[in-house]
Amino acid sequence: MTIKVTPLSDALGAEVTGVDLRERLSDVDRKNMEDAFIKHLVLVVRDQELNPRQYMTATRLFGKPMRQYFSDMILEEQPEIVVIDSREAPLLPNGEPRLVGSGAWHSDHTNTLQPPKVTVLYAIVLPRKGGTTGFANMHMAYDALPEDEKVKVDQMRTVNTLGKVINQVSTADLEEFGKPCVHPLARTHPVTGKKAIYVGPVKVECIVGMGQDESRRYIRELQERVIQPDIIYRHYWKPGDLLMWDNRSVAHKAFRDYDHMEGRIMHRIILEGDVPV
Ligand SMILES: [Fe+2]
Repeated sequence: MTIKVTPLSDALGAEVTGVDLRERLSDVDRKNMEDAFIKHLVLVVRDQELNPRQYMTATRLFGKPMRQYFSDMILEEQPEIVVIDSREAPLLPNGEPRLVGSGAWHSDHTNTLQPPKVTVLYAIVLPRKGGTTGFANMHMAYDALPEDEKVKVDQMRTVNTLGKVINQVSTADLEEFGKPCVHPLARTHPVTGKKAIYVGPVKVECIVGMGQDESRRYIRELQERVIQPDIIYRHYWKPGDLLMWDNRSVAHKAFRDYDHMEGRIMHRIILEGDVPV
């Protein structure tokens, strides 16, 4: 089987066809997929029919799964898989569901010292309409900054905690994942050496040396300026889609434009990454 890689936008994302992830990939296909991932940052493989064990085996080809902080959402038979089910979302005081999947542009698990290099989602059930996900190329976001601001951003460090998620995790998860950690606001990709703006805003306590309000305002305004339509790919999900993105250089956001009671179920795996530098 020889894979084919077709770009999905000018900025990032590619669809991989000619692959059945239930079967073992040839060394050539695996290398081609790895190269395509580094080049396009988001890979989509449609029409996959994987049980949890096959999903796990396929994903392991790209790295080592790591524990996620939603222990109570773990799939019993494969504890590295977290089940994100919109129908299970607890309600906020205003009656709105507290959905997993931030509506703000972010990287995943930025509250950990060694955040994941890759996040993988496998679409199980989808609402009839909406429930799309946006992906932004944060290398392009960095490159768009004026030179003097690049110098400024290069020196900034964010202090990260569980943030608002703190109310959604168990005591044990809080113990393991609740310690603050510091990351560069612009990180260097360990494979390509390119810089990317790297942030999960809801988990940023502050930028080192700046007050909380000022830090959050700066990050919000920075994202608004740099995350423009020309650096975004928006994915319209179908059941059986397996999508993986480079969490080091891609920001993503969930569009909550659907009826959460209809059910949107994703199986998520994250793969171990480096300490950001
Ligand atoms: Fe996320």
